[in-house]
Amino acid sequence: MAKNRWGLFVGGALLSAAIAGGWSVYTRRAIERIPSAEGLDDPTIAQAYGRVAALPQMALMRRLVAQRATALCAVGEAADIGCGTGLLATELARQAPDLHITGVDLAAEMLAQAQEHTSRMGIAGRVTFRLGNGNRLPFEDRSLDLAVSTLSLHHWADPVGVFDEIARVLRPGGAFLIADLRRDMPPPGYLLVWFATKVVVPPTLRRIGEPLASRNAAYDPYEVARLAQTSRLTGWRMTTGPLWLTVEGKMIGA
Ligand SMILES: C[S@@+](CC[C@H](N)C(=O)[O-])C[C@H]1O[C@@H](n2cnc3c(N)ncnc32)[C@H](O)[C@@H]1O
Repeated sequence: MAKNRWGLFVGGALLSAAIAGGWSVYTRRAIERIPSAEGLDDPTIAQAYGRVAALPQMALMRRLVAQRATALCAVGEAADIGCGTGLLATELARQAPDLHITGVDLAAEMLAQAQEHTSRMGIAGRVTFRLGNGNRLPFEDRSLDLAVSTLSLHHWADPVGVFDEIARVLRPGGAFLIADLRRDMPPPGYLLVWFATKVVVPPTLRRIGEPLASRNAAYDPYEVARLAQTSRLTGWRMTTGPLWLTVEGKMIGA
């Protein structure tokens, strides 16, 4: 009986300390947005990001995004903007055999990994990669059926410029899905990101404060809605989850 009381006491004390610690971390979070670097071209950072991007949680996120994107459009020409190591492009190719996907990224180091990955998977003919900036997309006007992007929006120096470019390159009725973290994530999500930064990620990413820096650079849904409203995107709607948000839809117009 006495042993049980001690157990309850110690357990209660540890739980209270964990809640107090978590709350103190949460209340010290950045409220204002802190912009981050645009391209991830440092070779060691790109390699470390490649390892994190291959984790099963990230694979699940990509699978869900690809399902949603291919429900909007599964045939024709697609672009993945800020494609990083090319894993979303690969997942799109797997889910939609009638799509040809071009991954665009500012960082040659990321594209080298992407290229290697698609060659290894034997789908290099269906997925191509181009070095480029989202605000000067290397496509003709109205030439694409689908534009997607994950975890890149918070890096863009000119987000409205990228939205305008997406509007320019999509055909009328062309679909888009831009998914990113949301800065106003609730306490459990924030603590998860904080814990991942301090404990889970490789030391290279920990040194640059990732993924917390990405959370700090991310927008909240109102900010993203303002960006979309200011841009030439039409037919968009916003969806939100505990950690993420999306701007998605189909371009309206002749
Ligand atoms: C966090 S990584 C995300 C990569 C990938 N989309 C994913 O979900 O794993 C962000 C990527 O966006 C790229 N990026 C940042 N700003 C960009 C821009 N303006 N145009 C194209 N790529 C950009 C970076 O180089 C980096 O590879």
